[in-house]
Amino acid sequence: MKIAVAGTGYVGLVTAVCLAHKGHTVTCVDLNETKIKMLQSGKSPIYEKDLEDLMQQHAERLTYTTDYQNAYKDAEVIFIGVGTPEKKDGSANLTYVYESAKQIAQSAEKNCIVVVKSTVPIGTNDKVEAILQKEKVHDVTLEVASNPEFLAQGTAVSDTLYASRIVLGVESEHAEAVLKEVYAGFESPILVTNRRSAEMIKYASNDFLALKISYVNEIANLCELVGADIQDVTAGMGLDPRIGNQFLNAGIGYGGSCFPKDTKALHWLANFHDYEIKTVKAAIEVNELQKIKLLKKARKYYESFDGLTVAVLGLTFKPDTDDLREAPSLVNVPILLDEGATIHAWDAVGVENFQKVMEKADCNTNNIVYYATPEEALNDADLCFIFTEWADVKALDLQVFQTMKKAIILDGRNCFETEKMKELGVIYESIGR
Ligand code: UGA
Repeated sequence: MKIAVAGTGYVGLVTAVCLAHKGHTVTCVDLNETKIKMLQSGKSPIYEKDLEDLMQQHAERLTYTTDYQNAYKDAEVIFIGVGTPEKKDGSANLTYVYESAKQIAQSAEKNCIVVVKSTVPIGTNDKVEAILQKEKVHDVTLEVASNPEFLAQGTAVSDTLYASRIVLGVESEHAEAVLKEVYAGFESPILVTNRRSAEMIKYASNDFLALKISYVNEIANLCELVGADIQDVTAGMGLDPRIGNQFLNAGIGYGGSCFPKDTKALHWLANFHDYEIKTVKAAIEVNELQKIKLLKKARKYYESFDGLTVAVLGLTFKPDTDDLREAPSLVNVPILLDEGATIHAWDAVGVENFQKVMEKADCNTNNIVYYATPEEALNDADLCFIFTEWADVKALDLQVFQTMKKAIILDGRNCFETEKMKELGVIYESIGR
């Protein structure tokens, strides 16, 4: 089928490349010329396993352009996969979604289905439909369908090709039939609902996972107080198939571009309807506190961080991505710098992005030194924070901690066995153990 995709971020680009992999002809539209040029040269602007390989493998079925008019004029299906960033009040900023809808309305010369893939508040698809009707230039039928995505960064390609489910939120049999044709090559279960339920499935799923993490983090905090071990506790919980054994890892809180934004957006939306969604509110509050948990632990060992050398292992919000959005490092490093510490930082792929963010932050970036290996970052440090469970960190020869000036390791991702660290004779604190 002839498909166009608006937006070349995680959602748009991964969707486009996976649809091309299944045999469709796909045009990717983005207004950012630098990004389009990069894509045209066969390079992916995001760090995502297998993405660049598939882009190159299916180059003849993939086109990248800023010329939306040409891309939309005769597409059978147009996906909207642009960002819906958080506004200051917690609500979702829908400017890019509505702008894409306007561009589609101005350009479409053929009947087509406009599929909203971006995460949008319930009712947004209706508004997109209204924009299409109002702004359309040609005498065409433009139907709207909701098709939320469930991909996670780092595993985005396989999450799309082997999706746990494909949700089709449609208001007509025709839209259902066209979308089933789009996904004919996929083996995932298909659930057909109305548009509002599909929009809600996305928020309800993400917020449930965020809730699960905050719940486990609170149980972990309690484990520390009562002498239980969170890893044994979650192992016991996870054996119950009703609970499931995934997303039970305690740590210093969830980050990324989705959970923090989507919990706040649902909370905002509930408030808008005069309802307080208390469970989600609690998940948000627990997560904020969890992010500074290691700093609190550190204050037991040092009254002040002034003059200390602090090794920071891991800057990204999770491993296998270079994304820093809402990463715990972004909360903790500025506080440490403010209090006069020097940071010896290491990350597998996130350093460049971290430098860009820190340039804009109001803190003393001269006191950050970046190292190519975690071993170098640890050398002679007074304190070590682990914020991301990169494989390189988990594979460290534990003896390396003896090269620190004072071996105090505060691990926010439970990377090491407590017994082994005890044998080593270092001070090791993790989460819930
Ligand atoms: C998340 C969802 O997992 C996807 O299903 C969804 O499609 C996506 O949001 C989205 O809405 O686009 P993502 O944000 O890429 O994906 O990353 P996750 O793997 O879900 O991790 C999110 C955060 O939770 C990370 O900071 C991670 O460290 C943390 N986490 C995850 C825990 O603290 N404990 C766990 O057990 C699992």
